[in-house]
Amino acid sequence: MARPESKNEQSDLASMRVVLALPDSDWADELIQAFLRAGFVPHRTPSAETAALAVGYRAPIAVLVDGDLLDTAGFQLLDAFRRQSGGTPVVVVAPESASQLRLKALLWGADDCIALPCIPAEAVLRVRRLLETKKNLARLESAKRTAEEQCEGNRADLRSLREDLRRNAILLQRAVEFHRRLSPNGDRVALEAQLLRHLSVETGIDRLAYLTTRHSDASWLVAQSSWGLPRRLADQLRIPATGELATLLKAGGVPLVADRVRLHPSLRLELGILAAGGFKACLPVLLKNELLAVVLLGESKTGGTPTEETLRLAHFLVSAMGPTLAAQERWARERHITAGTLGFLVATLESRSPFLTGHSARVASWAESFGLELGMSQDELSTLTAAAVLHDIGRFQIDPALWSKMGPLEDADWGHIRRHPVEGARILAEASWPTQILSAVRHHHERWDGNGYPFGLAGSSIPWDARILSVADAMDALTSDRPNRAAISPDEALRRLRPESGIQFDPSVVDAAGRVVEAGAFAA
Ligand SMILES: [Fe+2]
Repeated sequence: MARPESKNEQSDLASMRVVLALPDSDWADELIQAFLRAGFVPHRTPSAETAALAVGYRAPIAVLVDGDLLDTAGFQLLDAFRRQSGGTPVVVVAPESASQLRLKALLWGADDCIALPCIPAEAVLRVRRLLETKKNLARLESAKRTAEEQCEGNRADLRSLREDLRRNAILLQRAVEFHRRLSPNGDRVALEAQLLRHLSVETGIDRLAYLTTRHSDASWLVAQSSWGLPRRLADQLRIPATGELATLLKAGGVPLVADRVRLHPSLRLELGILAAGGFKACLPVLLKNELLAVVLLGESKTGGTPTEETLRLAHFLVSAMGPTLAAQERWARERHITAGTLGFLVATLESRSPFLTGHSARVASWAESFGLELGMSQDELSTLTAAAVLHDIGRFQIDPALWSKMGPLEDADWGHIRRHPVEGARILAEASWPTQILSAVRHHHERWDGNGYPFGLAGSSIPWDARILSVADAMDALTSDRPNRAAISPDEALRRLRPESGIQFDPSVVDAAGRVVEAGAFAA
């Protein structure tokens, strides 16, 4: 009894099935034997029609048809096979003399024709070659499809890369423009405010805050600058400088979206603080792996968390803030050194006159006290004192004899002297000093009532630093010996200044001067 075929064996046998439509003949028997010997599983049918049926239920890998069996239905069968893409190959055998039949068979769809007589092994070999060719064609077709799919994938990748490149080029252009608008040659707080203002324009987010440590307390990141945030909220906004959130931002260096980390228990308190301020995301400002600041982002234009695209843009723009701050610090250091050098020069020139010796240094000292009393930041005080040290630098362009002239000055003398604020601003402008210092120097002789010089500015149109310098200058003039009078005490000087509050001087600065003098910091 024959052993049942295993599944693999069935599969192997199925892969070798051939249908042979052959008439009864010795040659046909030999041919079947040859196919058997070659490992095929031949199924013999007596006609083209039965061959067609056998193809239907046996699914052979090839069909061999004797030409004598090809009637009209047989040729239609060939045609049907031809129309099948990747269909079963068909071989027709016909006598050598039946060339027209062989040609017709090829035209109707036969894959090969074998002229008889031929030895059975040749027919088997031709069928095997045909199968190999079909298999190779199928492989080529599959490889072609794979290559086309890869090509399409590559084209899609290329399109995506091009789009990324285009977007990055736009981002880069925007970043260049963005940072061109940020000026490192100024006050740090002003730079931070500039950043937030431009960031709001670029992203459409109308609530932003810039958190960094204060000189007086490095343990908290507090809102030094804010945009679209009520002052009372900004004053309460703070996160620990070495807390979980700051550590996460420093380590990650990427935007952090509050909604995505809310469940993190160690962050709950800090994120709660941000949520109370209406903030949705935060960005680190890093320089050489140091966290310099944190920028907080409020809701997007349409409400809710800013989109990935907005976060990407904001991160791209904020990421260059670190180098800008470093440049600002370098510039501030250089400015400090230059101010020291110029201050020394001013002091040396002043020392030629007994009435001017130490004047600018003392004005700087008064101005700093007033600025502190008025709540100015360290950066603002730094700018103010630099302006104070340099406020009269323009006088060295004027005839030195005029400054120590005894007795009343002629009109022509005053004309000369009144040029010194403009001359001073011009000298500093040539050395590229910041606008804030130039304007303080240029306008330190303006009066609150508009009767000062050089331009007769009045009230709040006079630069803030110039208003402080004006009071500081007057305080030093009154508390120092002059060619035509002796120095008076700060208390007495203040008594003389008070009537000029709101006339010559800004009342708020005179009030601050009053508090400073009353505190006794400048007591004789
Ligand atoms: Fe002056």
